[in-house]
Amino acid sequence: MNPSRRISRRIAFQRMAALGASAVAPRFALAAQDGRARGAPAIDAAAIEKEAAAFANPLRLPGASGLYGVVRAADVREMRVVRTEVEMLPGRLTPYLAYAVEAGGRQFLNPALLARRGDEVRLRMVNRLDEPTIIHWHGLTNDARNDGSGLIVAAPGQTFDYAFTVRDRASMYFYHPHPHGYIPQQVYGGLASLLFVEDDEEAALRRSLDLSLGVTEIPLVLQDRRFDAQGRLQYKASPDERFAGFIGERLLVNLTEGPFIAAPRRIIRLRILNGSNARTYLLAFLQDGRQLGCYLAGTDGGLLAAPQRIVRTFISPGQRLDLLLDLREAAEGRPVTLATLAFDPMHLEGTGGHAMPGMDHGSMGAQSMPGMATEGEARALLRIDVKPAPGYANKVPATLSRLPAARAPAGSPRRIRLAHDGKSNWTIDGWTYDAKAIPITVRRGATETWLIENADASMPHPMHIHGFQFRVLARRGSPPQVHALAGVRGLLPQDLGLIDTVHVWPGETVQVALDFSHPFSGDQDYVFHCHNLEHAEVGMMIRYRVKA
Ligand code: C2O
Ligand code: CU
Ligand code: CU
Repeated sequence: MNPSRRISRRIAFQRMAALGASAVAPRFALAAQDGRARGAPAIDAAAIEKEAAAFANPLRLPGASGLYGVVRAADVREMRVVRTEVEMLPGRLTPYLAYAVEAGGRQFLNPALLARRGDEVRLRMVNRLDEPTIIHWHGLTNDARNDGSGLIVAAPGQTFDYAFTVRDRASMYFYHPHPHGYIPQQVYGGLASLLFVEDDEEAALRRSLDLSLGVTEIPLVLQDRRFDAQGRLQYKASPDERFAGFIGERLLVNLTEGPFIAAPRRIIRLRILNGSNARTYLLAFLQDGRQLGCYLAGTDGGLLAAPQRIVRTFISPGQRLDLLLDLREAAEGRPVTLATLAFDPMHLEGTGGHAMPGMDHGSMGAQSMPGMATEGEARALLRIDVKPAPGYANKVPATLSRLPAARAPAGSPRRIRLAHDGKSNWTIDGWTYDAKAIPITVRRGATETWLIENADASMPHPMHIHGFQFRVLARRGSPPQVHALAGVRGLLPQDLGLIDTVHVWPGETVQVALDFSHPFSGDQDYVFHCHNLEHAEVGMMIRYRVKA
């Protein structure tokens, strides 16, 4: 039997296990161990490409207005948080939450904001929801007030004024709500979009590859959703789903299901956000049963020093990847498929002892439903129809930015243990979220090493810190499917960049270097949390203070 089939069989088995007797739990534990030992499964390219061949919906692209319309952040005065409707499934309107903006006589929903490094953002958020909200600028260097981490929120009908300078490197950042108690459902309900920051290195890359946003440079927001029969989004997380993370069974890219684009046979750039609450993807490009390689050009915090050749890569919730795909490597006249390959989602929680609830996402039932994607199942995400592009002779540059190599700070590391409390909460160093407690205090300007350790009997945790981009120094104890992608010191290609979210797999210890330099005087309080949004919600989030 081919391994990806074995995996789907295992998932079906997990579904039965979740529904049924605890007597099956030990066998599930064995299955999980088996998946772990096997490493990366072989790919079932034919099935994925067949799925993609039927994709019939044009990918939604950022245009001059409307959903994902592109607008300069400096031109936005007001962002209203509203309930609206969006056509997500063809021919149907789905009730949706969005950031509504009017600028230059145009209307935008969840606009793709554009900023030049150094720009000033001055905007008023108006909360038109019937619950509190606040916008968090994921990845940006802001003072605590403008970070929007949820320590201050805007009540229904209230406003919140942001005023900050965009100080960060060019990259694709992510803005979304952050009111504790409401984060997963507001993000899932629609509140999430992109902020592109530009600088000189970014402009040089654009010029050398002749890229233009929405044509040869395509943002891809990966999200999974569950719909009811009326086409409404369903978010009713059971206790198990709150513990494991909420997985929608239908995959959307830029809110388009079964999407395709036409792209010229030349270098294109894909800027990918995993905007899902809890689902991780293993991305690869396929053509005629073959995996095409691509170049990793950048990560959460911008361009790498040099492009890295990769064939597949994980992307976990909150992370961004900047990929260059040279379609001249693809055969002419045949489509290329962006896929998520089969992998073991490693929900090992409880397998070290008694089985925990929540090891399975499939509360939909034991039958494997066609069209329903479980996490780790091989699926097509996007079909790329390749069009001729005569005369394009540009090459991926050998260097991309002046990003210095990561350096290990002096001093002993701070150990941060990720675990669960044996009940229904995930913990960070024994803590669950307490708005009044500040478990970690660092000095402004200090450099620190953090050793983030994920217990064996756990599940993956994409750990995200507010306020700072950081570097990965080493990754140890990686499961085979992760280690297979690693180079020196166990580092993955995306570990070579500046990042704000690091995926820590069960059994792993990831050593990261943080530099708490910023220009803000006075104590600044931020949060450090798991970007599996249900995990953060049940408590896998702590406050930390940067002491002036
Ligand atoms: Cu993208 Cu604290 O979050
Ligand atoms: Cu953030
Ligand atoms: Cu987590």
